[in-house]
Amino acid sequence: MLDFATNQLLTQTSAGTPMGDLLRRYWMPIAAVSEFDHRSIKPVRLLGEDLTLYKDLSGAYGLVDRHCPHRRADMSYGFVEQCGLRCNYHGWLFDEAGRCTEQPYEEMEAPEARFKDRVRIKAYPVQTLAGLIWAYLGPEPAPLVPNWEPFTWKNGFVQIVFADIPCNWFQCQENSVDPVHFEWMHMNWSVRLADKLGPYSPRHLKLAFDEFDYGLVYRRIREGMSENDPMWKVGRVCLWPNALFTGDHFEWRVPVDDHNTLSVTWAFSRVPKEREPYAQERIPAWHGPVREAESGRWISSHVMNQDFVAWVGQGTVADRTKEHLGASDRGIIMLRKRFLSDLDVISRGEDPKATIRDPELNRCLPLPIAERKVLTEGLTREQLLNHPIYGRQLSEGYPFQLGQPEEVRLAYEDAMGVPTHAVP
Ligand code: FES
Ligand SMILES: [Fe+2]
Repeated sequence: MLDFATNQLLTQTSAGTPMGDLLRRYWMPIAAVSEFDHRSIKPVRLLGEDLTLYKDLSGAYGLVDRHCPHRRADMSYGFVEQCGLRCNYHGWLFDEAGRCTEQPYEEMEAPEARFKDRVRIKAYPVQTLAGLIWAYLGPEPAPLVPNWEPFTWKNGFVQIVFADIPCNWFQCQENSVDPVHFEWMHMNWSVRLADKLGPYSPRHLKLAFDEFDYGLVYRRIREGMSENDPMWKVGRVCLWPNALFTGDHFEWRVPVDDHNTLSVTWAFSRVPKEREPYAQERIPAWHGPVREAESGRWISSHVMNQDFVAWVGQGTVADRTKEHLGASDRGIIMLRKRFLSDLDVISRGEDPKATIRDPELNRCLPLPIAERKVLTEGLTREQLLNHPIYGRQLSEGYPFQLGQPEEVRLAYEDAMGVPTHAVP
């Protein structure tokens, strides 16, 4: 249980709040590169700031204020030029560093005044990595965009999935270090959703939580498992500051503002050995729904949608003054303590946990991966189909979240060399 002030402290995201400033020390994934195949501008809201993401005619990305500094027109209706974004109201042009490079009428009437030199638009750095577009809203010098090990893997089909979750990011991230929910929310609830009373999934018998350089690890033993099982020896990762990493996919919980979160999934499917060498030309991205159209209730049919039900169900900002934490929640307590101690770290002017600044190290950042061999060395088609986790992925395309477009499923089938059956 937390007191009211600590709950507020941990869940605020705006600039000038302690956690808002801490979150600004990290690069956040905000869009997919492939979204810009057919568009040049996307309005985004990140950490309580309304912004405009664009790709100009030279191919450079920029992230600037949503509103023009002239008379506040909406820059997301502007148009891109060879270098930068032009406001559609009176044609002022801005580059990706925020400089005003043209003011058509001002330059006509009073060129010597060079008014443009005194005008700037708020602008933030943007980088691309692993098919994602990343933004950094913190103080310079910016750290490096972490090059996590799976981003360097070959012979895989990657898809990026977004969902808009109407609640605070912190309760979503607490789910990244909550192993027992897997048994109830995903396994047993799915049994009940199928109108069966059982059998239920093996129970959790033992949990362990450890800290490492880039986050926390949780490990579990369930009925029928030995201490040699990779889920006990290696475990799963609560990745700093705002992601879950399971070995083959990342899920970032990107704070849109105090009351909304963008869920960003990056999922890697290793192609069967028979398909090697395989090089993916384009990483597709899609947006999954969270509500049933007719009833307005949250969707519960898919694993990630089930997580969303938990998160939004806790309230827009979970009231932690009313919770009762038990032995299963040790990881959540570690997570909160680590963030609170990093507030002191940044107030001393030091880098918080998992800040990457060494380019040599960033060539490939290793992570704990329970199924490493399957993902890095691959399996034959037959071995994959018989695998307890990957067999299902192979037959279903991407079973975690509702809403995969047909074209993505077909691209996946093409990569994997098997016809799959659409998830109903
Ligand atoms: S409001 Fe943007 S140029 Fe005038
Ligand atoms: Fe989950």
